[in-house]
Parts: sequence; structure tokens; C-alpha cells
Amino acid sequence: MKDNSRPLQHLISSKQLNRELIKKIFGKAEYFENSNSVNKKPLVGKVVACIFYEPSTRTRLSFESAALRLGAAVISTESASHFSSAVKGETIEDTIRIISGYADAIVLRHYKEGAAEVASRFSTVTVINAGDGSGEHPTQALLDLYTIKKELGRIDGIKIGLVGDLLYGRTVHSLLRLLNLYKNIKIYLVSPKELRIPEEIRTFLIEKKADFKEIEDLSTILNDIDVLYVTRIQKERFKSKKKYESLKASFQINNSVLRKLKNKAIIMHPLPRVTEISFEVDSDKRAAYFRQAKNGLFVRMAILDLMLGED
Ligand code: CP
Repeated sequence: MKDNSRPLQHLISSKQLNRELIKKIFGKAEYFENSNSVNKKPLVGKVVACIFYEPSTRTRLSFESAALRLGAAVISTESASHFSSAVKGETIEDTIRIISGYADAIVLRHYKEGAAEVASRFSTVTVINAGDGSGEHPTQALLDLYTIKKELGRIDGIKIGLVGDLLYGRTVHSLLRLLNLYKNIKIYLVSPKELRIPEEIRTFLIEKKADFKEIEDLSTILNDIDVLYVTRIQKERFKSKKKYESLKASFQINNSVLRKLKNKAIIMHPLPRVTEISFEVDSDKRAAYFRQAKNGLFVRMAILDLMLGED
């Protein structure tokens, strides 16, 4: 049943978030991170459905682990395109109508931009966007921001370089919207010209008077940035294999990049990585991407607790 008293009925886009809500989510995430076990199980009796039409390791399993740790039960389909009635031609609208009769929340990943928003209109229960095509991935952006705060002790005033596939990379789109909520952020958008941010995000940054610069050469910013946020070239989004092949090796973070990066900077990546970060980087203390992925569990516990719990 819909509950209009909750701060968030659905989480579809980072646009819905503000600093106050983020602070609340981070407070809960810190609590869950620092409690070896959650004594209270705030979601006992609830059912969380994880419906994924695209592959996932981190998002699906961290949401499922988060739900179980909070006492909820989980139902899921990890390859809904193959193992749900989508194969028989059922629409996303009908599928969501049905699942919302079985669960208290639906965590949805879909290959189509806008699918989560459509789902939220047909669901009678909470819908959480776990990635919609090249659109958004708001829970990833929250865990990214949580990681920045935890690693650097602050978000206001940071200088960040976002590198790679900024056109199709949904985590970048969601993170840019959240960074806009903080003060004195300097943003470098580093990509080949074919993979620059979508026009909608550029317009948003201009309207918000964000301090951002679109560049192609990563080496020029390495001694300036606090956060190097690397992304995979999103092979699955390219219409032309030839185009992907020509761009797939646009960037590689390796020891030679590390030598130019500030000592106190951190390297982030939403993962999975392919070749854009060499394995030799993993042992460097600035490599924060595995810590970042682990933070996803605590942040998703916080999100489920906020959206489904009593408080
Ligand atoms: N970062 C992220 O969304 O990873 P998965 O595709 O493994 O969920």
C-alpha cells in the first residue's frame, strides 16, 4: 500500500534527493556499518523483490544481503528477460502490477531508460531503480558519495575527475546530480568527444551553475583532483561494434598514472572494470573501489530501512 508520509515512496532518480535526506541515509548507513549484527530486525515480515533484466553482481547481491540482514525475505529473478513471463510477451507494466501484489518493495534493473519510472506508476509498492539503461543508478550514486565522505572526510570543496564513458555511464549521470547539492565542487569530465555527457545532463550542470570542464586529456588534472572516478566503456550500449572497438581502450589507470596522482587522492570505480584500471593499481592505498563496493551493502540497508522501516 502507498504511504504518503514516507520521505521517499519510490527512488527513481537522484533528482529526488536533497542534503537532508542524504544525511539521514548516511547516518543509518554508518549505524549499520558499525554494528556487527543488527540486533533489531526492522524489516521482519517484509518481502523485497529483486527483478533484474540485466546482469549484476554488486547491486542485486548487496540489495538481497541488505534485505536479509534487516530481517526481510527476498524473492528474485536474476535474468528476468529469460526467466520471467517477459519471454512470453508480458509487458513491464503487467509484470510490475503482479509483483507489487507479492512484495513490499521492488528493486528493478532494466535495459530501457525510463523503465523504473514506468514501473513506479504501475506499482502499488515502493520501486527502487537499480539501473535503467543509460539513464540513472541513484543507489550507486549514494554509495559513491558515502565513500567520498568516508575516505576524504568531506564532500564540499572536492575536485573530482570523472573519466571514461560519460555518455552511457548511468552512475555518472546520477552522481553529477548529487554532487550539485554540495558546495564548491570542481568537476572535470574526461572522455573522448564521442562519449561526452548527454545534453540533458550538460544543460542541468549549466542551469545549476556547476563548475565543470569537459576535457580529453586526463594527465592535465592528475595533480589537482581529490577523486579520480573511472568508468567502463559500456560495450552493451553501443549500436556499432566498430565504434566500441575504436573507443574501448581510451583510458587506462596504471602505475604511470598513479605517479602523477596526489598522494591523498582516491580512485573510485562503480565496477565491474575491464581494462580501464590495471591490476597493478589494486594494491595502492588510493585504490578505493573495493571499499566502495562494500559500502554498497550499508547504504542499501539504509535505503531499505528508510523506505520500508517504521522510523
Ligand atoms: N556498479 C554496479 O551497478 O555493479 P553491478 O552491475 O554488478 O550491479
